Amino acid sequence: MKIVIISPTYNEKANIEKMIPVLEEEIFPMIKHHDMQILIADDKSPDGTAEVIKEYQKKYKNLHLITGEKQGLGAAYVRGMKYSMEQLHADAVMEFDADFQHDPHDIPRLIAAMDAGADYVIGSRYVPGGAIPKEWGIDRKFLSVFGSLFIRVVWLNFKIHDMTSGFKLTKTSYLKKIDLDHLLSKNFSYKIQILHEVIKQGAKVQEVPIVFNERTQGGSKISQNDQFESLYIVLRLALDDHKRIIKFLFVGGTGFILQYMVTYMLIISGVEQFIAAMLGGEAAILSNFFLNNIWTFKDTDKIKQKGSLIERLVKFNTASLLSIGLQGLATFIAVLLLGEDLHVLGYTIHTALAILFPTIILLVIPLNYFIYNKIVWKTQYLKKSKPAEILTK
Ligand code: GDD
Ligand code: MN
Repeated sequence: MKIVIISPTYNEKANIEKMIPVLEEEIFPMIKHHDMQILIADDKSPDGTAEVIKEYQKKYKNLHLITGEKQGLGAAYVRGMKYSMEQLHADAVMEFDADFQHDPHDIPRLIAAMDAGADYVIGSRYVPGGAIPKEWGIDRKFLSVFGSLFIRVVWLNFKIHDMTSGFKLTKTSYLKKIDLDHLLSKNFSYKIQILHEVIKQGAKVQEVPIVFNERTQGGSKISQNDQFESLYIVLRLALDDHKRIIKFLFVGGTGFILQYMVTYMLIISGVEQFIAAMLGGEAAILSNFFLNNIWTFKDTDKIKQKGSLIERLVKFNTASLLSIGLQGLATFIAVLLLGEDLHVLGYTIHTALAILFPTIILLVIPLNYFIYNKIVWKTQYLKKSKPAEILTK
């Protein structure tokens, strides 16, 4: 494999001066079976980082340098990734900080994990054997631990432990499917989105323990803004993943309101109660159908297998009537078994009402969503990716 180690630099002269010889003389000789390259993505560092690289280039032919305007860490990495894929034809790229916080001696272990079958290797501080700097203050420690935990909870992904590590080895076949020019962030949070996209593509992910060192030279460029941005991006990506269900619930809510408004207005204008309820229900069904059709399930129009609009409407209507029937049945059975009224904690409530809400939330809503996806709009034809597989050591 051709592996490009991408190191972004901004005022890292003192570090990179030491790093290049370590990689070239000490680390690369240990990795004989791969073609190892280094790409420095410098942003016109005023301290003369680029000059140091140019000097080393006379000696090391596998050392590359690209320069750009300073836009942020993510922008520098994206530039490096694109250059690695387009110009250097890399099979895999490594994200590697130039400041020795990532130990170059860990590189062979990350590569070994890919040799063993992983597509995406994370240098992980939160698996046994991994660590964050003990010199870090309690606030930075908390932020780092809590940050990963937050992402795991919001994404409901508990298989990966270190969500914000900057030490990664990624097969470019996965990066090529990501729209790198339009990532949500040009700064530190770019990595959260790449992680998200790679997982979604079903890559084999493996965490390899690393000890994240304290910085000895220069200063960190991470800012408070980066933390807020990460928060936004984590939530935004989760919302994007669940867009359809959110729209579905929203449409259901509007239908609920419409049903009551129509029924109420018909009753006050003298229509018989039962007829009014039927008409109100049907108005909601029709409105839900059209809103779902032009919004929630709009993308399914691209599918050949879809039925005609009328066909979908009939299926939708049948499903809705079935769920009304289901609600009726559930309340009927509950009243039959428990009687008209329930006595809970000294209160008396109607059994029918007590049963209706859990039935709607736990049974009718999930069942409807399932039917819409599988029978009415057939979204299964849209799904391409399988869930990510996590390799264990
Ligand atoms: N070209 C370029 N442009 N390089 C940059 C920029 C930029 O705008 N900002 C930072 N860098 C370079 C630094 O010179 C360094 O080599 C590397 O990117 C990491 O930057 P640091 O400022 O040292 O980041 P950090 O140590 O706070 O954060 C690291 O650890 C985090 C986890 O705690 C990074 O690896 C993060 O990606 C990681 O999330
Ligand atoms: Mn650093």
